[in-house]
Amino acid sequence: MSKFITIEQIDAATDAIRARTDIKPEIAMILGSGLGELADSIENPTIIPPTREIPHWPVSTVPGHKGRLVIGTLEGKKVLVLQGRTHYYEGHEVSQIGLPIRVMQRLGIEKLIITNAAGGLRESFITTDLMIIIDHLALLPMCGVNPLRGPNLDEFGTRFPDMSAVYDPEYIQLAREVGQEQGIPMQEGVYACLSGPTFETPADCRFLKLVGVDAVGMSTVPEAIVAKHGGMRILGISTITNKIDPDGTNKATHEEVLEAGDIIAPKLMKSSGRWLGECNLPFVQGKWTQSFVFWLNLKYPSTLFWVLSRSCFCAGLFWLLKKRRKLFLDWNAKPRNVISFRLPRCLSWSDF
Ligand code: HPA
Repeated sequence: MSKFITIEQIDAATDAIRARTDIKPEIAMILGSGLGELADSIENPTIIPPTREIPHWPVSTVPGHKGRLVIGTLEGKKVLVLQGRTHYYEGHEVSQIGLPIRVMQRLGIEKLIITNAAGGLRESFITTDLMIIIDHLALLPMCGVNPLRGPNLDEFGTRFPDMSAVYDPEYIQLAREVGQEQGIPMQEGVYACLSGPTFETPADCRFLKLVGVDAVGMSTVPEAIVAKHGGMRILGISTITNKIDPDGTNKATHEEVLEAGDIIAPKLMKSSGRWLGECNLPFVQGKWTQSFVFWLNLKYPSTLFWVLSRSCFCAGLFWLLKKRRKLFLDWNAKPRNVISFRLPRCLSWSDF
């Protein structure tokens, strides 16, 4: 296994997929631990069974990760779904974990939904919550485990990519709106990826809470970094499969994570259909239930604010002018001699 992925490896993997299907997926989705069943509802699927059949593809070895690639149609959108992923702790080089993302980019996919199983740190979280990832803490990259380490692949992105908004603000807003619409409470927070496979100690937990982490897992960040480097728009969703606490009273197990996944999957399924359907913003697709304002708010939240504030300003100005005009007319209607501004005794109007 080479340390860094190369263009030749990416192209070989991409060609292997193209040889199996003519479908050109627009959106990709990565399904985390216990969430793989979501891929079963894909229509007319091309299933590439164990991703072993694709050269250089990192193979998943974890129970609960089928490691299949499914390409087909979901909610009317052509999708590519990774039914299970690979993790750094399995022994892959971190750059290798980025290979599926590079292949997606080579296939022309610009939108990515990443899901994961995570331990909830914030007190208000409950097991089976969904959390919109607002940002991530790149602890592994801070320690040098960065998927972009090595020669930069200039075809995909710049040497020093911006990471100020890894998770697309419009998709974050979309996930909020879909949650409200479907009555699914959506938490929001910061996700941190540790290398695993060990779960966190109580001291780890205290540290992570102190630095502002809300949920912790063993994936997503390397994929998100590679996706962002290649200019993809990302929606990140953590499923809170267990709670971790600073006292060490909650003992995490992989079985518990998978069990929670079974409960969360239908919830995620319900929402992901809408995310997939709508994340092709602008999304007015003849659905009259979607009001223009709802669309505008998603697409251009700041534009909506701009339009509303300008409208209020114009309405205010109009009202004021109307009022002034009335005053002016009243003024003109009055005989001149009613002007009764008081002048100081020493002055008379003729002095002016
Ligand atoms: N820690 C790390 N990764 C996880 C956890 C956890 O508690 N739960 C699911 N993935």
